[in-house]
Amino acid sequence: MVSKVANLALAELGEKNYNWAYNHMPALVKTIEKADKGKPLQGLRLAACLHVTKETSVLVMGLKRLGAEVYLAGANPLSTQDDIAAFLANQEISVYAWRGENEEEYFDCIRTILRANPHIMLDDGADAHVTLHQEDEFKALKPLGGTEETTTGIIRLKALEASGNLRYPIIGVNNAYSKYLFDNRYGTGQSTLDGLLRATSLLMAGKRLVICGYGWVGRGIALRARGLGCKVIVTEVNPLRALEAHLDGFDVMPLNEAAKLGDMFVTATGQYRVIRGEHIENMKDGAILANAGHFDVEIDVNYLEENKESIREVRNYVEEYKLKSGKRIYLVSKGRVVNLVAAEGHPPEVMMMSFSNQLLSVIYIAKNFKELKPNLMDVPKEIDEQVARNALEGFNVKIDELTEEQIAYSKSYK
Ligand SMILES: NC(=O)c1ccc[n+]([C@@H]2O[C@H](COP(=O)([O-])OP(=O)(O)OC[C@H]3O[C@@H](n4cnc5c(N)ncnc54)[C@H](O)[C@@H]3O)[C@@H](O)[C@H]2O)c1
Repeated sequence: MVSKVANLALAELGEKNYNWAYNHMPALVKTIEKADKGKPLQGLRLAACLHVTKETSVLVMGLKRLGAEVYLAGANPLSTQDDIAAFLANQEISVYAWRGENEEEYFDCIRTILRANPHIMLDDGADAHVTLHQEDEFKALKPLGGTEETTTGIIRLKALEASGNLRYPIIGVNNAYSKYLFDNRYGTGQSTLDGLLRATSLLMAGKRLVICGYGWVGRGIALRARGLGCKVIVTEVNPLRALEAHLDGFDVMPLNEAAKLGDMFVTATGQYRVIRGEHIENMKDGAILANAGHFDVEIDVNYLEENKESIREVRNYVEEYKLKSGKRIYLVSKGRVVNLVAAEGHPPEVMMMSFSNQLLSVIYIAKNFKELKPNLMDVPKEIDEQVARNALEGFNVKIDELTEEQIAYSKSYK
């Protein structure tokens, strides 16, 4: 197998981290073991554009165990865990990913996995699906189907579908309850704080933390930040989400006002240029900016670049921009997903649910592709519920079942 990774000598460390994740993802392991009996992916080539983390390695090894030939590229130039990439490359996975790829290298890695002419494509953020649809080299490719892991990817694929150009069915894994309710909220909630702490090593208690966006990700960050003693301020554009944040007990205000108050800012919107020059110039000297949204477009880093007097790295993953106005602004992980760059991404117990959805969706496509239309579709409800049941079992939590009498009651209008 050909691979391109940073350092194969890291494979031993990668194996340790793989084992740690494996032992904390019981629901995914059980799903893999159950599916293994029929080798449902035998003979299929899979191209996966996913964050190369220890949790992803459990999914990828599972896909291989079920018979697939896997080609893996990173879903962000800065999120690859090089030890995991080395471990997977040693396990006959074709890996094209290393931490610190430049933009061109990042897309070259994606093109390389597309050249395998995959039967099924797994993606996180839709860069692989969009590259396949946009570039002439891949005009003739028509996979049986694909999956998409995150909110931003779903938004892009909806637009592709609306343009009438979507070539194959894609299952929006993000939209499964057993994914976004837990991954986006508890996974990003914890790991974003983890990233901020590892990068800055500062006290959170008493800090004013401004969170832009009160969606699933924003809610999770707000919840965990409150637990650490932050005074949380939420900014929103959606009245229902803003109302929810208000009634959840957070201060809600426009970003122009919050900019003057915040010590730290985290964007979690999936939108473009949310924190801009007009906000940055209103911030306190020493304000810290980070992003938890999928792409590095939420903080206007260009503004910082164009208005800087100097820049220096003050800690790993923290850059100090001294602006012409004399103000110092600290940017964490270059405005890229802070939880994956400055920390290790979501914990394994959360990813076992997201990746069980991924794995079962891939098997679903392998079995049902002849009946599927080239649409963006939800994870089938049975899969979603099965993932939740397996996760409960993994957490050793038991629940009740409706009695016959209750089932009859819920079906009666009388
Ligand atoms: N870092 C991670 O590991 C991780 C995990 C899951 C999702 N994500 C990404 O995080 C982003 C948010 O995901 P989500 O599931 O919470 O989405 P969501 O749609 O549930 O929430 C986004 C919220 O941002 C609000 N918003 C949009 N523009 C805004 C603006 N200009 N100012 C303030 N608020 C604004 C929206 O009204 C919405 O409430 C997406 O890019 C998603 O792909 C990242």
